[in-house]
Amino acid sequence: MSLRNAFSELFGLVPDLVTAAPGRVNLIGEHVDYNDGFVLPFAIDARTYCALRVREDSRVRIASKQAGGEIYETELAELKPLTGPNWARYILGVIWALEVKNGVEILIDSEVPSGAGLSSSAALECSVAIALNEIFTLNKSLPQLARLTQRAENEYVGVPCGIMDQSISLMGKSGHALLLDCRDLSTRQIRVDFANLGLKLLIIDTRAHHALVDGGYAERRSQCEAVAQTLGVKALRDVTIGELEIARMKLPEVNFKRARHVVTEIERVSLAVKALEADSFEEFGKLLNQSHISLRDDYNVSCAELDLTVDAALNCGALGSRMVGGGFGGSAIALIREGDAGKVASNIERAFQSAGFTTPRFFDSLPSDGAQVLN
Ligand code: GLA
Repeated sequence: MSLRNAFSELFGLVPDLVTAAPGRVNLIGEHVDYNDGFVLPFAIDARTYCALRVREDSRVRIASKQAGGEIYETELAELKPLTGPNWARYILGVIWALEVKNGVEILIDSEVPSGAGLSSSAALECSVAIALNEIFTLNKSLPQLARLTQRAENEYVGVPCGIMDQSISLMGKSGHALLLDCRDLSTRQIRVDFANLGLKLLIIDTRAHHALVDGGYAERRSQCEAVAQTLGVKALRDVTIGELEIARMKLPEVNFKRARHVVTEIERVSLAVKALEADSFEEFGKLLNQSHISLRDDYNVSCAELDLTVDAALNCGALGSRMVGGGFGGSAIALIREGDAGKVASNIERAFQSAGFTTPRFFDSLPSDGAQVLN
């Protein structure tokens, strides 16, 4: 059944509009967004859809097909951070952050797999934000919506994420990756045409989800902030590798390694953009590999399933491979020659089987457009 029909069946009236917002993969620039660094994600074709109708009163009634389709109801005046069922907080948080003054009915449906590290939460938040912005003529720019949806996730949901996922879900452009300056949200669209060079970006969902995800992420953030404070800078973006080396003795060794990841990763993003612009895919692949090693050894956010995926892909001739997103599970990417997709996938599957891991899932996606109002 279409989302419009499902909405009418659930709420008894047709929706005023339907919007869609995508998930993402990040080519490179991991765990640098909350250090004011540069990232290079692209929007994937899998989307989250939001059907919305404005009410005459201040009632909020929301449902999600992925959460079983039951309606959760509340009042605008009762919206309060960290309240409501977990799935509902992403939607309520956006209504709250955008300071909506009218009641609404919302039904969500999503193609973005959750728990795969492909930003299903940002896709959900941005589909709702775009719908509210349109229907109430809030006239917020995309960077403003990115900040507001991030605020919804930080404060209402209680997840201390950076600004990357919401930005790419809103600002993605088909055929391009988004070079985003996470300090001022200025952007440059970088053309990415793997297919033209006979290449493909394989996305591998390891289906691992380790308990460390939440605590580990917050801990990394505070380690980075502690280093920035010791060095007297606003964020690690303002530190060179030379300055960091000089300060090494003043820092706990573990924090030094965390900061070394961030500082070298920001440098890799700028090299990766140059490699992409020069069609130097061998070079680009090497940067992906270096990023993975740094995330694994200095930042300590990889896990056995992600490392095995990367090794299995590289053993099969991938030009480069690395974990993406927050880590401790989720997905990896591998840049491969187009004809090798089957071979690489079965090599990864075999490796998972021998290790006794859950069978992984494979996706591929061209860089796609960001959030849209569909009608
Ligand atoms: C998660 C967060 C992002 C970013 C990545 C790591 O996806 O939501 O803000 O920090 O992890 O790069």
